[in-house]
Order: sequence, then C-alpha cells, then structure tokens
Amino acid sequence: MRNVLITGGAGFIGSNFIRYILEKESDLQIINLDALTYAGSLENLKNLPDEERHTFIKGDICDHSLVEDIMRRHHIDTIVHFAAESHVDRSILGPAKFIQTNVFGTFSLLDAARQVWLGEGVQPSEKVRFHHISTDEVFGSLSPDDPPFSETTSYAPNSPYAASKAASDHLVRTYAHTYDLPITITNCSNNYGPYQFPEKLIPLMILNAMQGLPLPIYGDGLQVRDWLYVEDHCEAIHFVLKQGRLGQTYNIGGDNQPTNLELVRQLCSILDEHLPQSPYTPHEGFITFVTDRPGHDRRYAMDIRKIQHELDWSPREDLASGLHKTVLWYLENIDWVDSIRAGSEYSEWLECNYERRGGVN
Ligand code: NAD
Ligand code: DAU
Repeated sequence: MRNVLITGGAGFIGSNFIRYILEKESDLQIINLDALTYAGSLENLKNLPDEERHTFIKGDICDHSLVEDIMRRHHIDTIVHFAAESHVDRSILGPAKFIQTNVFGTFSLLDAARQVWLGEGVQPSEKVRFHHISTDEVFGSLSPDDPPFSETTSYAPNSPYAASKAASDHLVRTYAHTYDLPITITNCSNNYGPYQFPEKLIPLMILNAMQGLPLPIYGDGLQVRDWLYVEDHCEAIHFVLKQGRLGQTYNIGGDNQPTNLELVRQLCSILDEHLPQSPYTPHEGFITFVTDRPGHDRRYAMDIRKIQHELDWSPREDLASGLHKTVLWYLENIDWVDSIRAGSEYSEWLECNYERRGGVN
C-alpha cells in the first residue's frame, strides 16, 4: 500500500478512515475522489494529521476516464471504495441515483482497475488491491430467533439501497473470479461516531434532542441494529487490507443489538448527564412515534467470528463508551454541526422525510 485511491473520502466513514490511516501508516499517499454530494463535505477533512499526504479530487466515480487517469497519474496500487448513496430512506424516495452510483459507479472503478492494473500492467498484480466496502443490509432481515448473518448467508436485499449494494458486491466478486482482480470485501453493520450526516438515526436524535425537537421513532421502535463505532470499522478495514486473504469477504459488527427505542433512550440519558441545565431535560420526553419506513428490516446482527479468528480483530468500543464519545463529539463540534445545518439540503431533507410521517420537525 503506497498510493491509495479512496473513493467517498469526504463522507462519514471515508473521512474517518483517512484520519485513521494517516495516523497508522507513515509512508502512504492518499488520493481522495469524491463528488461532494449532499453527504460529502470538505468540513470533514479539516485538520487531517499529516495533510500533505492527502490529495482531494472532486469528481464522480462513474467518470471512467477520470478514474483511469487518476490511477495512471498517481500510480495507484490500492483502491478502498467507500463512495455510495448510503441512506435507505432516500433510496425509497428516489432509487435512480443509488443504481447509478452504487452499481454503475462500482462497475466503472472495477473496469478501470482491470484496464490499468491487469491490461497495462503498470503495477505488478501481486501488489494491487481493490477493497470494497459493503453492508450487512445485503443479507435482508432476521427474525428474533435467527442466527446472525455470516459470510455464507444468502443475499436477500429488501430496499433499493440494499439491492444496489448487493449488485455492487456481486460485480466485485465477478471481477475476481473472471479476471483475477485481487479483491477483498467487507460487509459492515450500522456505524456511528464523528462526522456522520445527521439524516441517520444517532446524529439526528442528538441534534434534535439538543434543540428540544421531536425524536421521531419509526413504527414501534423495536427494530434491532448492530451498532459499530466508526473507528473500530476503520481498524477492521486496515486489518483486512494488511492481512485479509484475497477474494475473501469479512463481516464486521459491533457485537451489540439494542432496539432503536433502547438506543434512543440511552442517548437521551447521556444528553441529560452532559446537559443538566438544558430546558429539554429529560430529553426522553421528546420521543415521538411516527409512520414506519416501508419494507423496514426488523433485525440485523453480524457473526464476526471469521475476522476475529483470522485477523484477530474485535471492536474496542462497547455501545455505552461509543455513544458517550459520539455525544461529546457533537456537543463539542458545534461549528461542524452548524455548517451542516446551514446547507439547504439538510433542512429540505427533514421537511421531505418527516412531513410525510406526521411533520415532527
Ligand atoms: P456517506 O453517505 O456519509 O458518504 C458517501 C460519500 O460518497 C460522500 O462523501 C459522497 O459525496 C460520496 N459520493 C456519492 N456519490 C458519489 C459519486 N458518484 N462519485 C464520487 N463520490 C460520491 O456514506 P457512509 O455512511 O460514509 O458510507 C460509506 C460506505 O460504507 C458506503 O459504501 C456504505 O454503503 C457503506 N456502509 C455504511 C454504513 C453506515 O452505517 N454508514 C454501514 C455499512 C456500510
Ligand atoms: O446496516 C448498515 C446500514 O446502516 C448502512 O448500510 C447504511 O448506509 C446506513 O444508513 C444504515 O442503515 P439504517 O437504515 O439501518 O440506518 P438509519 O440510521 O437510517 O436507521 C437506523 C434505524 O433507525 C432503522 O431501523 C430506522 C430507524 N430510524 C431512522 C431514522 C432516520 C428511526 O426510527 N427514525 C429516524 O428518524
């Protein structure tokens, strides 16, 4: 790993990964290709450690010739592919972008890698790697007594987002099988932590609670997710890049599965603790049940024994410690919060998503 192309590095997990890897690896260069959609922001990339080793390029992964050009110009030997449309609710309201970026965009990157790495041979094939970041949602939904998802669970995606990620996983697998492209894939559960765009459950709840706004719980709130602190995800990706077996997929998860309602209550009590003077304490009083997400997956849970046994990775944070760190980060980074809130896309999204559900914002 010397010259690493990171796609989607201005988004939540990608920017955390750049911060993480610049700390951990002292001799690599990062080229960050990101289209700066509503979910990407240069605010996420401020004060990087050793920032002269980071080059930002604004561009679309679907632009095949741009990707090939970057690969040649920067002698890229590793691609870590985060770029995606990532929000399930948006995929329900407008699936087209998800197919374009997640399916066609992944194809465009894979084909550029095939052309430049395998066709032109500018890098020895044993020195290159295409690492694809995917999700547990490709496996569908679990019943209460089902065992957690393992790497061999059949794919059964339920939302346009999940289907587009499943399609991208299949394309990556195909390029390994057919063309011998050196790949690895990780399927990860719900991430949370610094720099997450506040359309997702945890930052949305923190920001709404701080302002005394309703805390919108979809349906009965008894859906279960497997929450992972984002830095733990970054470490797992690093381990796979360093020691993962080529052609393999690894499941990553946080080893905890609260219901949404339990999680939001826990967040509220952390806020009560840190904001004792707030007029909105107890924050739990703002919980509001709203219309459910169509096709809402009931339960996700990850079996992480493969990455634990093969690569000796396990999450460092438990849910309580990760949520504390996250709440503190949002309280202490009001400038970042304000910069996101100032963008019209955020308020437009709140209006569009929550008006339909009973107008809680
Ligand atoms: P995000 O929405 O925060 O960021 C996505 C980034 O990709 C943004 O910076 C955006 O500008 C960029 N992007 C979007 N379309 C692009 C395009 N066509 N060309 C170039 N850049 C483009 O997403 P995230 O939460 O950081 O997720 C990153 C990856 O991890 C995604 O592939 C997602 O499917 C996967 N994932 C996310 C989670 C989670 O809980 N957030 C869990 C498992 C897997
Ligand atoms: O499981 C991994 C996936 O986790 C990633 O692949 C996705 O990119 C990421 O967005 C996330 O998907 P979810 O749909 O699980 O995350 P979200 O934060 O949108 O919702 C988490 C749960 O909370 C889900 O059951 C829906 C519920 N929810 C969400 C919002 C935004 C609410 O009850 N109210 C809300 O306002």
